[in-house]
Amino acid sequence: MESDKLSTLLKDMSLEEKIGQMLQVSGVFYTEDGVLTGPANTVGYTEEEIRLAGSVLGAVGTEQLRQIQTRYMERQPHHIPLIFMADVINGFRTVFPIPLAQGCTFDPELVEEGAAAAARESAAAGLHLTFSPMADLVRDARWGRVMESTGEDAWLNGRLAKAMVEGYQGRGGLRKKGRIAACVKHFAGYGAPTAGRDYNSVELSERTLRDDYLPAYREAVGAGAAMVMTSFNTLDRVPSSANRRLMRDILRGEMGFDGVVISDWAAIEELCSHGVAQDKEQAARLALDAGVDIDMMTNCYCRHLKKQVESGAVSEALIDEAVLRILRLKNELGLFENPYKDADAAEEQALALCSAHRQTARRMAAESFVLLKNDGILPLAAECRLAVIGPHAANPEIYGAWSMHAAPAETVTMEAGIKNRGCGQVCFAQGCALQEALGDQDGQGESTEAAERLLQEAVELAKKADKVVLALGEHRLHSGEAASRADITLPACQMELLRRVCAVNKNVVAVIFSGRPLDIQEISERAAAVLAVWMPGTEGGNAIADVLFGDVNPSGRLSMSFPYSVGQVPVFYGQFRTGRPCTEGTQEKYVSRYLDIPNRPLYPFGYGLSYTTFAIGPVQADAQRMRKSDRLRVSVTVKNTGSVGGSEVVQMYLADVSASVARPVRELRGFQKIYLEPGEEREVSFEITEELLRFHDIHMNYVSEPGEFRVYVGNSSETKNEAVFWLEE
Ligand code: NOJ
Repeated sequence: MESDKLSTLLKDMSLEEKIGQMLQVSGVFYTEDGVLTGPANTVGYTEEEIRLAGSVLGAVGTEQLRQIQTRYMERQPHHIPLIFMADVINGFRTVFPIPLAQGCTFDPELVEEGAAAAARESAAAGLHLTFSPMADLVRDARWGRVMESTGEDAWLNGRLAKAMVEGYQGRGGLRKKGRIAACVKHFAGYGAPTAGRDYNSVELSERTLRDDYLPAYREAVGAGAAMVMTSFNTLDRVPSSANRRLMRDILRGEMGFDGVVISDWAAIEELCSHGVAQDKEQAARLALDAGVDIDMMTNCYCRHLKKQVESGAVSEALIDEAVLRILRLKNELGLFENPYKDADAAEEQALALCSAHRQTARRMAAESFVLLKNDGILPLAAECRLAVIGPHAANPEIYGAWSMHAAPAETVTMEAGIKNRGCGQVCFAQGCALQEALGDQDGQGESTEAAERLLQEAVELAKKADKVVLALGEHRLHSGEAASRADITLPACQMELLRRVCAVNKNVVAVIFSGRPLDIQEISERAAAVLAVWMPGTEGGNAIADVLFGDVNPSGRLSMSFPYSVGQVPVFYGQFRTGRPCTEGTQEKYVSRYLDIPNRPLYPFGYGLSYTTFAIGPVQADAQRMRKSDRLRVSVTVKNTGSVGGSEVVQMYLADVSASVARPVRELRGFQKIYLEPGEEREVSFEITEELLRFHDIHMNYVSEPGEFRVYVGNSSETKNEAVFWLEE
């Protein structure tokens, strides 16, 4: 439809019909034939309200979506199509590693390729929009949703959020086949809940919000994300869904976002629980005023806006503005011409888990694994006698909390991956359950005997093996939404298995599955090698075999620090110096440190080992001084000094030595992933522009300040390889 016709259409719509467009309901309200059902309606919508709702979330599948759309359009007064949205977070039928793991690839192209594959599969299944990327910065491993972010760094998150948006949406318009719209979330600051507890309030200074938390959303918006979702939390004590300054001034005004804003699930009604709205009527008014266009799953808008417009309490112009944005999105997707878009049963089947998508998933998984420790026992030799032990060894549920469309039967387990690799003698044992059985924590009863038998069996296998691969970790639902944890160690039964196995075999490789950085201090002391594999997805098992046997040389680098202990969190590399900086290992008293643990995390952001070694030469800057209009080039030579080919992630960090406000000890401002054959050497260079040196100064202006800077180039956030330069007036 030509866009000027949308305004004509809008003028022709009744108030009720318009408000209908602003409601999103769950797909569970429809039967497979697209007919409305009653019992699932826990919100208490009237049938008419659901009938007019302009979008549906969570329903997938060509057949059902075609039916729902057809029936809806028949009775929609202007035959306006529905828009179908869902959470396609790390893949659809083919499941890619969780976003936190994707962060560890430091590979925006690969991340884009994964998003594009997810878009193709879900578009063919009838979807029009995904609630991804989650661009929330995360620094507290207790929060379960760190799995859904690409990590603790604003720069990396920005690059990857952009890559995801471009992967879903493409660059040629949303109508293009196989493309779906992207919704960046959760605006804003959802990744910093106090004490790591999900949905908790967020306290961020304006400067921290702007310097650290907003940039990744801005990148996603700049890449053209069609939609933005509000966050559940308060920010400066105002819930996002009622936060006019955030949504209108910052998002629309400063960032120039002109797409649709949707609330998170029930977040408008929750304005009452937050205590900023007396009732749903006021909640609806506040959210509309803040610029929230779609109400996800409450009846605040559909039940409480009409009468407020009629009484003059709410301006109809606000409703028109919201509806026009929604119609525009439908039009950009081409739904007025083709309401089914790419829904196609044959294609849906052909694309789901097709070999091309599986290959991308396998490559991405292998690239996301981070080798945290290796005393030389990896890679494994094909001919060794291997015991594969642990509750994750044969577990197919290794795809993360959001993969509702993944069937376990389609997932390659670690056991299957190792068998597929076809190596010498391998035997398997579960060793223990993922969790202690409920009610048996005090070690009583029958299940204790069963647990002991499992342990014994594992110990016997470990005794006879040359090497043991021990698959430990979290249950997939122990991270994700509403899955915060105060204790981020592994369950006692798994630790017992580790101790018993390590007591009889010194060659233990711990493979850790998780949705977050865990406290793995004891594991890393006991095991000879530790490989973090996150929730690796459909091809996880094959990818693990690829890396364990050295077919793929690990190149993942941590996107989030592994704490030394939970008492350190939030722990992240971009901290501040404080007035009393601490030199690691000092016994000095009045400095900023813990008495009982180090300040540094166990494994920092950017860290990860390889089967080869890289020598990174000193940082060479082409000048020591730069003017604001200059581009300063810094370079290093990187040489593969080992005996196998491998990829290195060369990272550039900048530090502002003295400024009008305290600045982080360093900030990532560039990275390049390069592959080098043994003995090969390459120069890697970065360009520093004045823009990279900006921050919010004492007056809250976004500027750079002349003076001394340090540039670090290396392969972790702790690199000491540095050069100094000066920015002139
Ligand atoms: C709640 C989650 O916070 C959000 O990320 C998700 O997209 C919606 N539910 C819809 O499922």
